[in-house]
Amino acid sequence: MSEIKKKPVGITETILRDAHQSQIATRMTTEQMLPIIDKMDQVGYHSVECWGGATFDACLRFLKEDPWERLRKLRDGFKHTKLQMLFRGQNILGYRHYADDVVEYFVQKSIANGIDIIRIFDAFNDLRNLETSVKACKKEGGHAQIALCYTLGEAYTLDYWKEIAKRIEEMGADSICIKDMAGLLVPYEAEALLKALKASTKLPIQLHTHYTSGVASMTYMKAVEAGCDIIDTAMSPFALGTSQPATEVMCETFRDTPFDTGLDQKLLAEIADYFRPIQEEALKSGLLNPKVLGVNIKTLMYQVPGGMLSNLVSQLKDAHAEDKYYDVLEEIPRVRKDFGEPPLVTPSSQIVGTQAVLNVLMGERYKMITKESKALLHGEYGQTVKPFNPEVQKKACGDETPITCRPADLLKPELREMEKEVARYKQQDEDVLSYALFPQVAVDFFKYREAQQEKVDPTRADTKAGAYPV
Ligand code: CO
Repeated sequence: MSEIKKKPVGITETILRDAHQSQIATRMTTEQMLPIIDKMDQVGYHSVECWGGATFDACLRFLKEDPWERLRKLRDGFKHTKLQMLFRGQNILGYRHYADDVVEYFVQKSIANGIDIIRIFDAFNDLRNLETSVKACKKEGGHAQIALCYTLGEAYTLDYWKEIAKRIEEMGADSICIKDMAGLLVPYEAEALLKALKASTKLPIQLHTHYTSGVASMTYMKAVEAGCDIIDTAMSPFALGTSQPATEVMCETFRDTPFDTGLDQKLLAEIADYFRPIQEEALKSGLLNPKVLGVNIKTLMYQVPGGMLSNLVSQLKDAHAEDKYYDVLEEIPRVRKDFGEPPLVTPSSQIVGTQAVLNVLMGERYKMITKESKALLHGEYGQTVKPFNPEVQKKACGDETPITCRPADLLKPELREMEKEVARYKQQDEDVLSYALFPQVAVDFFKYREAQQEKVDPTRADTKAGAYPV
């Protein structure tokens, strides 16, 4: 038998970020993570995704944890494994565009505190919104991965993906990720896509998908056969459903093939044993809704992310208009088209969804236009793959000239002012970044932190008052 060339597929483990974000509202605590990371560090994962996305907000808002402290503790524990985070380009981990100085400083501090790989994406795949973060990441010696939001639509041909992959390579990124947040990428399409990408770029290609529509593990198999270098998976207790395919299952799938991951199934089983009681507890407490573990084929039928569907149901319930559900589902693609056919991911999914609800409920399209829809049509989020519907744009913006430059070019530096605002609470350099992203939530957390410290050391309250003129 001729020697087959080995090409082991890399595994990015998501249980410390996307998996619990997708299934238990990002509520896994640092304390729950720490006891197992020594074992996880022995696995030989390509990387462990453990920070960014919604974890930052959830730490400060719900868990009363300092996200920076979490990162440092994870870094201490993971001695051999690359740590990865998810980063929303110019939106960082927040929901608006920030000035370049905030983006640069955030990247610098993320890497200084232990991140190796930054996965950076923009909701519109507008590469201009990624320039600053990619440059900053390279400057700090990090691995800059650009993630393209995968979506379907007239504009999203294989040529589109090939062309944009080439531009990413030219930008100096280190790798490309296809980020299929809604589970829309079906197996044979994945094969065609990977072949096309492989023909157009030399960069390593990683695939990220969700099990929502039930096809994800087959999608990974076809993608790997077509040359995909790395896949994102989650340990079985928090896999499947709205999360990723299971790590153990994908490793077993490729065993004794050229793509063999080489990961030790026994070690993986021990790690799964650790997380299983956490999952069982979450089921008992109601934090984990069994509904998110099933297959939702509607995401494929309507090409709408699962999270968007559940938002829609609750918006209609609030308006006592649940009978309009299917009208809204049909209106979503029309609004998306008027808005330049963007991928539906935060924040475009919320903007398109809310506008579609209004269009149906008002009985007349664009009778009411939300502030966010107007901003989008004004170009404030960047450029979409197709032009906006000029009539709808005119209705939203009137005579105002839409923005065509990179949106952040219009933003003045913000950090200096924020430093002043946060001085009263500051205990570490990173605090200004927490404040920049979530001002109110961060201040509430800083107050909580002070109160905790005063409990431990009652004299601290006095020194604080003296040190900071209020
Ligand atoms: Co994801």
